Amino acid sequence: MIPYSTQFIDDDDVRAVERVLRSDFLTCGPRVDEFEECLCNYCDSKYAVSTSNATAALHLSMMALDVGPEDEVWVSAISFVASANCARYCGATVRFVDVDPHSGNIDVYKLHEMLRDAEQNHKKLPKAVVAVHLSGKPCELRYLQNLKQRYNFALVEDASHAIGATYESNKIGKTIFSDVVVFSFHPVKIITTAEGGACLTDNEELAHKIRLLHAHGITHDPLEMQAENAAQIPGYYYEQLELGYNYRMSDIQAALGISQLNKIDDFLKKRRALAHDYIDIFKDLTDQGLVKLPQPDTEGFESSWHLYQIQVEHRDELYRTLRNKGVGAQIHYIPIYQHPYYQKQPYHEKLEGAEYFYEHTLTIPLHYKVNRVDQSMVASIIAAELDKLNAKN
Ligand SMILES: Cc1ncc(COP(=O)(O)O)c(C=O)c1O
Repeated sequence: MIPYSTQFIDDDDVRAVERVLRSDFLTCGPRVDEFEECLCNYCDSKYAVSTSNATAALHLSMMALDVGPEDEVWVSAISFVASANCARYCGATVRFVDVDPHSGNIDVYKLHEMLRDAEQNHKKLPKAVVAVHLSGKPCELRYLQNLKQRYNFALVEDASHAIGATYESNKIGKTIFSDVVVFSFHPVKIITTAEGGACLTDNEELAHKIRLLHAHGITHDPLEMQAENAAQIPGYYYEQLELGYNYRMSDIQAALGISQLNKIDDFLKKRRALAHDYIDIFKDLTDQGLVKLPQPDTEGFESSWHLYQIQVEHRDELYRTLRNKGVGAQIHYIPIYQHPYYQKQPYHEKLEGAEYFYEHTLTIPLHYKVNRVDQSMVASIIAAELDKLNAKN
């Protein structure tokens, strides 16, 4: 089966992990600090806190932003459930925002309408908005920033798909427009640490809170302690200041992350070339209006091409045929409000853009190990199946 995405691990990665296994630190040690520094340098961000996965990073972001049971968090309707669950972990109510039917990214105009309506009718405004850079294509960050300033909400970029993407020539991860950016390093993503994630921010206070909360809420810094004469207290002493979690990354994961980050330019170059090749390969089908491809990159606005998502009629039939023929097509995502858990929550009505996106969108393979022969095979399976289906109708 050609997967829709998968990791690429080479001997350097294996050696990096082996060195840690033979060292004194397996858990949180020097490689974690180094990985966080590498992330800051790569994204031109001031602070990075690595985490056990992106779900944890999203939860930490919500906690650091003081999201609680009285609050609403507004979330892009098309995403993995973690984008919404993070708010529920804090007891907040999740309200879904519709998406652009073709990109699947948050529809900023509909968000604006919802905000205007909430303000005019004295309904709750969101404490935070979670915008997902779906498939690695950046959302309209400048518009979102204007709304954030006008309606005073915190903005979290769920950039689980988007390390390496650019917006106005800045790397996603530089928090110019938002409060926190979250990355995932799950194996299907651009770089991997096996499980792993990170929060990036330029806000010192948020970074400090996230760091405290990702390690049980415990401080070892005498200046933060409540005990009198903390500075003279023996080295074993620490204090728990908040109810935190164990959401730390290990040195094993971080070493893999550093080694992977060394190759990210190569990974992105390959993904961008493959995305470009699909334009050629699908030309006949796009000319006939049978397949719609994702928008290509423009100068300064580059996707990381985590997912290659095409739009078609007969999506489910194509999905089944591709899988039967060894192509790991996938669906990203079922609108979050459709899940039984969210059907029991206050906001779960159908959203037009999300429904269209869900019914028409198919993820086809794009990753470091894919080649042009694979791509042509995928396209011919799709062409043959569409021929068959269209002849029937
Ligand atoms: C958009 C999005 N957000 C969050 C997550 C959660 O990431 P993780 O598996 O690292 O917790 C994922 C994982 O697929 C995702 O796609």
